[in-house]
Amino acid sequence: MTLVQKGADALTVLRSHESRRKFTGEKISPECMEAIHDAIMQTSSTCFFQFVTVITVQDQAKLKRIAELAGNQTHIAKCSHYLVFCLDLTKLMHFTELKPPFGLKFLIGGLNDCSMCCQNALVAAEAQGLGGVVVGGYKRGIAEVSQMLKLPQGVIPLLSLCLGVPDPEYEEEQKPRLPRHWIFMDEEFHDPYNADELKAYDAEMQRYYQNRRYNQGNDTWTQAATAMLPGTATAAQAIIDYLKAQGFEYF
Ligand SMILES: Cc1cc2nc3c(=O)[nH]c(=O)nc-3n(C[C@H](O)[C@H](O)[C@H](O)COP(=O)(O)O)c2cc1C
Repeated sequence: MTLVQKGADALTVLRSHESRRKFTGEKISPECMEAIHDAIMQTSSTCFFQFVTVITVQDQAKLKRIAELAGNQTHIAKCSHYLVFCLDLTKLMHFTELKPPFGLKFLIGGLNDCSMCCQNALVAAEAQGLGGVVVGGYKRGIAEVSQMLKLPQGVIPLLSLCLGVPDPEYEEEQKPRLPRHWIFMDEEFHDPYNADELKAYDAEMQRYYQNRRYNQGNDTWTQAATAMLPGTATAAQAIIDYLKAQGFEYF
């Protein structure tokens, strides 16, 4: 897929998405970052609480350590700007009666708001010819990332975005998606799965993994998804302990 031309219309940008994990090393300009901030500012918000805080990390030593804590994701260490989307209840704690323990409503609302802000930021970046990749949780490393960012009680880092100027050497074809009629249903749920379509999709994904330039592999979609399923109880416990320490009590 060739890179989106700067200023392309919204549908072209959305249809052209692919995660970018290789960057030229050039810094994103302040003007481009301001446009990304505008997109984040204007994102819809649960109950209009506006409880997302975005911490931008550019410090090389911090990025290197975050990359390790996220499971040795080298693109984090090499990006231009690393945006950490935090659920931040300190604003509500200052200006309303809200105090810990915080209920599930805030965790779900915060996750929704952070996800939407992150996606809007990525689209705003891609619309300017930039690129990046979402980074999920830090699992066991969450408490250390939180300490590094000096997050007080009521603030948790939910997801992050690695942004940079994409290296054109690493332009890839777009990752094939599941059959459309597995995704879109009319009026009610129905079971759309059939073995032949899965076989065809698995073969298509295997071809994609074998032929891509970066991080080649031999898995089918089913194999890749199966490999991602297990989580460890210690990682889950570390996250629960961290959430409790930050004031979230109801699980
Ligand atoms: C919530 C979330 C967390 C993700 N975490 C990571 C991550 O930690 N590392 C990574 O390389 N990609 C991560 N991704 C990117 C996905 O791997 C990517 O979107 C998916 O493979 C589809 O590829 P595409 O975006 O190029 O179409 C994440 C995506 C989402 C939505």
